[in-house]
Amino acid sequence: LKTLKTNIAGKKLKVLETTVSTQEEAKALAEAGAPEGTLVVAEEQTGGKGRLGRKWFSPKGKGIWMSLVLRPKQPLHYMPQLTLLTGVAVCRAVRRTTGVMAGLKWPNDLLVDGRKICGILLESAAEDEYVRYCIAGIGISANLDPDDYPDELKSVATSLKIEAGHPVDRVQLIAAAMEEFETLYRLYQQEGFAPIASLWEALSVTLGKRVTVGAASGPVTGQALKLDPHGALVILMEDGRELPVFSGDVELRR
Ligand code: BTN
Repeated sequence: LKTLKTNIAGKKLKVLETTVSTQEEAKALAEAGAPEGTLVVAEEQTGGKGRLGRKWFSPKGKGIWMSLVLRPKQPLHYMPQLTLLTGVAVCRAVRRTTGVMAGLKWPNDLLVDGRKICGILLESAAEDEYVRYCIAGIGISANLDPDDYPDELKSVATSLKIEAGHPVDRVQLIAAAMEEFETLYRLYQQEGFAPIASLWEALSVTLGKRVTVGAASGPVTGQALKLDPHGALVILMEDGRELPVFSGDVELRR
């Protein structure tokens, strides 16, 4: 990453052959005082973590498994915005460096033709409702071949190599992701969430679709309308009411 054109993101870098999860490595560094922008990258994760307690398949040398330490001076309830920002950054980097036209599924999966190519996991440590630090975990299925996937993932996942028809340069993609992230993070700090929301909406494959989301009261089906100013997905329900959803999973329906 010698050519990295950022001031903070990825400037402090820890590269590991193998680790349980780069999230845990980054958390340990953050607890020890690592500055904002510290990046941990691993060739392989033996216990990669996904959202909602799932596992993340992270085979050796095939993907980009990385975690970025952030220290936003913000109350905890702004974290969904940072999650969306990270998705926009990675989506832009993927499109720019590989030409694969991935889209964003709320909150921040990257999909190509309905199949997942990248997942993002934000975890934060707080004190008195303020963020002490946050770890943005990014998993990009870069150079996986169809045979690499276990059976249960074959129909739902794809990789940049499969979509582009050739292997992609992981170092170039990491650098692009850090550059996009830093640009958007600065824009966010200066102008707030509105410009990030517009970028997210333009890259979204969720808006306008019929979706089912798990809400506190049980699953809700409706049309995904827009992001609200906090970063919640606004669903137009069948009874005409609008419901903002902050977390959970969206099922895209035809
Ligand atoms: C999801 O879609 O469920 C989120 C997946 C996040 C995976 C990345 S890979 C790097 C970092 N380390 C982890 O253990 N998880 C994240």
